Formats: sequence, structure tokens, C-alpha cells
Amino acid sequence: MAFRKDFLWGGATAANQCEGGYNLDGRGLANVDLAPLGEKRMGVITGQDKMFEFVDGEIYPAKEAIDMYHHYEEDISLFAEMGFKTYRMSIAWSRIFPRGDESEPNEAGLEFYEKIFKECKKYGIEPLVTITHFDCPMYLVEKYGAWRSRELVGFYENLCNVIFNRYKGLVKYWLTFNEINMILHAPFMGAGLYFAPEDNQDQVKYQAAHHELVASAIATKIAHEVDPEMKVGCMLAAGAYYPYSPKPEDVFESRQKDRESYFFIDVQSRGEYPAYALKELERKGIEIKMEDGDLELLRENTVDFVSFSYYSSRVATTDEELLAKTEGNIFASVANPYLKASEWGWQIDPMGLRITLNDIYDRYQKPLFIVENGLGAKDTPNENGYVVDDYRIDYLSQHIQAMKDAVELDGVDLMGYTTWGCIDLVSAGTGQMSKRYGFIYVDKDDEGNGTLKRSKKKSFDWYKKVIATNGEDL
Ligand code: BG6
Repeated sequence: MAFRKDFLWGGATAANQCEGGYNLDGRGLANVDLAPLGEKRMGVITGQDKMFEFVDGEIYPAKEAIDMYHHYEEDISLFAEMGFKTYRMSIAWSRIFPRGDESEPNEAGLEFYEKIFKECKKYGIEPLVTITHFDCPMYLVEKYGAWRSRELVGFYENLCNVIFNRYKGLVKYWLTFNEINMILHAPFMGAGLYFAPEDNQDQVKYQAAHHELVASAIATKIAHEVDPEMKVGCMLAAGAYYPYSPKPEDVFESRQKDRESYFFIDVQSRGEYPAYALKELERKGIEIKMEDGDLELLRENTVDFVSFSYYSSRVATTDEELLAKTEGNIFASVANPYLKASEWGWQIDPMGLRITLNDIYDRYQKPLFIVENGLGAKDTPNENGYVVDDYRIDYLSQHIQAMKDAVELDGVDLMGYTTWGCIDLVSAGTGQMSKRYGFIYVDKDDEGNGTLKRSKKKSFDWYKKVIATNGEDL
């Protein structure tokens, strides 16, 4: 058998993409609430355009999302029916600290997550909790400039103290920041950053990143103090870069692009700023302000495991003409002529998952956890309301086969696998509902129409079988 007996099979979601209830029971407004559907979204999530309040005529998908706030019992029972061993979800910071800088938490917010964790426990599902999945209370954005301010470290520490103590015994696995490297590509969504015209954007991003890295180390420290059983992981938006050609410049460029992402995990997992990053920061004239004790904190509080999302590999080149043709998603990449792509242009590369797993394991030698993977596709229910999503089954089975190879043939230590958007939810990149990843269909369209009714797709029973056979029967 390839996978461990206690392999953590499951699915993943994020608060702002599924909960809704954006203003209920004392929840404060967060950056992610203000990302509209449609053309303006990219400008907002990348911090290039400012949208600090709801604008008439725009659709804000996070406001209601799939209303898991009121459907969590039904949703978790469906996860249990598939045999989930774990459910990855995130906490909305502004539900617990509506402004972010209060000293006392909002009890209603704490109770909401306690109910969810207890519901999971009822079915023997282990929660895997992301402390921040792209969200930052808007009050912290407006008053402090979000993660550009050192004060955020203290507010985050306060959040961690509260949740670790409150959920001790209910939650064992924690992730500090979702896709921490996203701060470079979508700084408003990733870290609540927006820029003034005079800002050196790289300076702001790397200073904010330092604050997040310190906050992450503090979180790891507190978790271990509160409960030595707690395991804390970092989380990378992964996907190995291939050189476009064997030209040495392309090969070196692919390494540089990988390092751009690994920088964060190098600090979180090895405990220090890597030499290549120090040189690069120096060349760019970026000076990171540190406080006494920061380097020691980073060194002494490395993560227990390394988690990552994987959707696609990427391609790097120094060829200006090819680069000019690059378009698309948050991670712009030259197209790989050997790969097919999804309806949203994301290239499909199961072998790339095996390569990525090997790269990361070679680098860190810590247990790995794939916490996101999946195919965003348009689903059309048939006359009986049933979605026959063979394309999703194909995608997932090929990726699970690749991870099996990484474990069985390459010896990678893999703890678990949670597919992204196990229930249809709002797309982070586009705000659409029609970009669906789930085993469970949710009746809602991009404009917000629909009954929110949940129904099982064909992939639901397929994944149930995969879990029941511990990945033997794909
Ligand atoms: C990851 C995020 O970047 O990719 C998720 O952690 C996101 O929040 C997922 O939803 C898929 O991207 P998208 O844009 O298709 O929702």
C-alpha cells in the first residue's frame, strides 16, 4: 500500500469563499469581502485599485458565498459520507476580532467555529485549520496599512493565543498563512496591501512578508506551548518551474523563479533567510527592518510540516518575445506546448505534481501535505440535476497516481491530501461560482441566483471509493 494507514484524505475550503454571513453576529468587514466579481477584481486583489467600501452596481460574491454559515451541518455530513479523515477550512479573523486590534474576542465568532469543530469530531474528521486564508480585517487595512505595519504581528499573536487555547483538544493541525508567497502576486488579497504612488512596492511587500514570517514563527511557538500535540505547517502556492529550453539562461531563470517562492518556506522551515535572498534584496535596495530577537524567533520556531497547493507546473524563460505573450492568471507563465489546459487556461500536469513533491521533499525533508489540488470547470447538471464530471475524475485520479508514485517510488513522506473546493464555492481569482471544483454541486450562479441546494456529483462516489481503498482504487 502506497499511503500511510492514517493518511489524511479530505477536502479544503476557505472562510471567505464559502461562509457568507459577512455581517452576522458581530463579524467585521475584511479585505476579501471587497473583491467584486468581474473586470475590476484583478485590480483590487493585486492592490493596484482601491475599493474600500461596497460600490453600487458591483456584485460581491463573498457576502453570501454558498452560505456555509447556515449549511455547515449538512455540508459536513456530506464530507463524512465521502469518508473524509480531515477537513481543511479557515477561520475568518474578523469574526473573532471584528476590528482586529481589540483585546477581547467576539464570543459569537468563537462559538461558530467551535460548533464546526465539534461537528467534525462527531464524524471522526480532523479539522485542518488555516489561520489566515487571504483575509485581513478592513479596520487593520485602513488604520495600519495591514501587514506593512509591525503592529499586525501583535494582533495576530493575540488571535493565535485565543484560538489555540479555545480549540485545544478540538484542533490539532494548523496552517499559519495560506499561500504565503501570494503576497508578491496579489498583495491586497494576500496581505491587505495597497500602494501609494511613491511606494517602492517590493520594499513594502518584503517588509510585510517579514512581519508575516515572524508572526508565523510566533504562532508555531504558542501552539507548541499551549499543546505539544499541535502540529503547525506553512503553506506555499507551489508548482515547479521548468526551463522553456535547455539554454543555460532558461535553466537558471527557472531556478530563480522557484526561489522566489521557496524563499518564504526556506525561512519557515529552515529558520533563516537564505543567502540567495539576502543578495537579491541587497541588489534591489530593499532593507528589511527587524527587531531584536526576530532572527532567533525564526530560527527556533520552524514548522512541523510543509503544505502546499498544486494546480499546475510553470515555465520560465529569458526570451523577451515569449514573455510578452504571457498572459492570464495570477502566476503568469509561458505556455508549455506539451500540456493541455483547463477552460480557464490552467495547464494540466500530473507529472508536475510528482516533480514538485520531490523538489520540496529534497529541500526540506519534512512531512508534506498537499492541501489544495483540483480542476476548476463548468458543470452542467443533466435533466435529473446530476453532474457527470468525468473530466474532474480524470484530473484527480491522474494527480493521485502521481502522488502515489512520489510516495511509493521516490520515498516522499506525505501526510495527506485535501482537494480544493470539495464543495463548489466562490473562485478566489475570478469571483465566479461557475468555476467549480466540488464533489458537491451548489445551485448558485455567478450573479447570485439559485436555491443553494447541495447535490452529489458523479465524482462524489468516486472520491468515496478512493478514500475507502486508501488510494488503491482510482
Ligand atoms: C488557491 C487559493 O490560490 O487557489 C484558493 O488558496 C483558490 O483560495 C484556489 O480558490 C483556486 O483558484 P481559483 O482562482 O480558481 O479560485
